[in-house]
Amino acid sequence: MSDILTHIDAGVMTITFNRLDKKNSITSDMYAAMADAVAQASADASVRVVVFQGHETIFSAGNDIGDFLNKPPSTKESPVFRFLRGIAGFEKPLLAAVAGPAVGIGTTMLFHCDLVYAGDNAAFSMPFVNLGLCPEAASSLLAPRMFGYHRAAEALLLGEPFFAEAAQEVGLVNRVVPPTEVNAVAQAQARKLAAKPLSSLIETKRLMKGGDQQAVLQKMDEEGQSFGRMLREPAAKEAFGAFMEKRKPDFSKL
Ligand code: COA
Repeated sequence: MSDILTHIDAGVMTITFNRLDKKNSITSDMYAAMADAVAQASADASVRVVVFQGHETIFSAGNDIGDFLNKPPSTKESPVFRFLRGIAGFEKPLLAAVAGPAVGIGTTMLFHCDLVYAGDNAAFSMPFVNLGLCPEAASSLLAPRMFGYHRAAEALLLGEPFFAEAAQEVGLVNRVVPPTEVNAVAQAQARKLAAKPLSSLIETKRLMKGGDQQAVLQKMDEEGQSFGRMLREPAAKEAFGAFMEKRKPDFSKL
């Protein structure tokens, strides 16, 4: 079965991470499938809302670390960047149902969702520094803006997880529910939205996002250039090697 499942019902496209044996970590093929699904959802008038979901034990462990080593994104057209531009510019409502860990892009993609529901086991983290990397998905712009600078600095510099209640407090999450209910809650909200006039949803989202789009895309681009360079540098190589060998990284000389 595919690592990304896409299903359309009652105006709602649901995109499901389905790579549980690898904790729903995301390969470049998965980014490509998600970018294509988002583009389809944008073009298809019968799709009015999109929901991302994972499993009740894990949303996503973020980028596949083997892919970071073997297939690092090399151009702006790389699947990960296509996916990120797709969700940042998506004009219809975008929802996420998050239970368990949401690591790296598993968290940063949520800045581009309109509504986020979390299981009480959700653990959000952006451990880019711990991997010798830097933020992506415009999170270096959107996290300080949403959380306040100091809380964003804690999340992005220390890279430690923060949990469902804290995520709700800073405004990343709308509601916390039992993990077994999170996908159903997001679906119910998506169906409510799908029953509303699409032109009003699109216009309201456009007005709320204001003139932000350009700044977000520009920041994504700037981050992407640094990220691409840092993926090939010694600190990241040490972090990825350590993950593969199941040991602690040694950054003492870096
Ligand atoms: N890339 C590739 N493989 C991954 C992965 C990732 N990001 N995250 C987990 N996996 C794999 C593990 O290598 C392991 O594979 P194996 O069974 O072949 O050894 C399997 O998924 C299970 O992972 P494990 O670490 O044993 O699960 P856990 O429940 O103890 O921990 C996480 C779950 C998500 C906390 C942990 O896997 C983790 O921290 N992953 C890395 C997250 C990360 O740094 N992502 C990059 C962000 S930019």
